[in-house]
Amino acid sequence: MAQAQRHTGKFSIVTGASTGIGLELAKNCARDGMDILVVANEPEIEQAAETLRGLGAGQVEALQADLSNEAGVDKLIAAIKGRSIEHLIANAGRGLGDSFLNQDWAAAKYVVQTNITGTLYLIHELARRMVDAGTGRILITGSIAGFMPGSYQAVYNGTKAFLDSFSYALREEIKDSGVTVTCLMPGATETEFFERADMMDTKIGQEKKMDPAEVAKQGYDAMLAGDGQVVTGWKNKMQVAMSHVMPAEQLAKQHTKEAAPGTAKH
Ligand SMILES: NC(=O)c1ccc[n+]([C@@H]2O[C@H](COP(=O)([O-])OP(=O)(O)OC[C@H]3O[C@@H](n4cnc5c(N)ncnc54)[C@H](OP(=O)(O)O)[C@@H]3O)[C@@H](O)[C@H]2O)c1
Repeated sequence: MAQAQRHTGKFSIVTGASTGIGLELAKNCARDGMDILVVANEPEIEQAAETLRGLGAGQVEALQADLSNEAGVDKLIAAIKGRSIEHLIANAGRGLGDSFLNQDWAAAKYVVQTNITGTLYLIHELARRMVDAGTGRILITGSIAGFMPGSYQAVYNGTKAFLDSFSYALREEIKDSGVTVTCLMPGATETEFFERADMMDTKIGQEKKMDPAEVAKQGYDAMLAGDGQVVTGWKNKMQVAMSHVMPAEQLAKQHTKEAAPGTAKH
């Protein structure tokens, strides 16, 4: 009963919520008593929903949908059933290691379609509704990777440069609408990301990374505050500062040392 009183009746959508940063973002929504729709491509999203129910969330629904294409995003939109949206957390994304020319084209295209096309279509459809309602918070998971040419992860870094930039542009365009746009820019974070990107033989894949719960908390708080962006952690803040002064060629060289296959051994 005490738990029921904490329910806000307000509604959060979190994509890529089955693991990692997305699951931790959804936990923040749960602790705030939100109704939540969590979405991911694999059946593990059901377990995530169960976890959230145990944290004091309102109604929690899990949806399996491939958000790399319009049909998958349309499935998500149908599941909203016209409810007004308080938080739209567009977090689903994936990486891909190795040199561009060694990458399988279908895998590289899937990264672009998930990180850019699906994310844009989702926001295009739902931000309009939020603007019409005159309220709500949008959080986009970009990355500090967007500030540097990502040798041996070239497509991924490009997608994050797109999202980092897009986030600020949309924020400006709708600044008087009552809807805010925040970009969460993590650096390397301890999730399944590097394994899924086949980067476990790289330095960045093996090095100590930030706790996803801490990253998500910083992103969630920035979203609630309506901030434009948050770069998580002081090391990442320093890396971003460096990226503003170092020539792109140097940044690309540096990225090779972290992300090229085999760098984990040195
Ligand atoms: N980890 C890092 O170092 C880091 C740093 C900066 C930014 N980020 C960003 O943080 C976000 C979350 O990544 P993470 O690190 O938490 O990795 P993660 O543990 O691999 O989580 C990725 C989430 O996205 C979902 N997803 C991926 N492709 C999807 C698709 N086509 N359709 C639906 N869901 C999809 C995954 O679900 P399924 O398993 O069901 O596909 C999973 O829930 C990503 O946007 C990533 O680019 C991560």
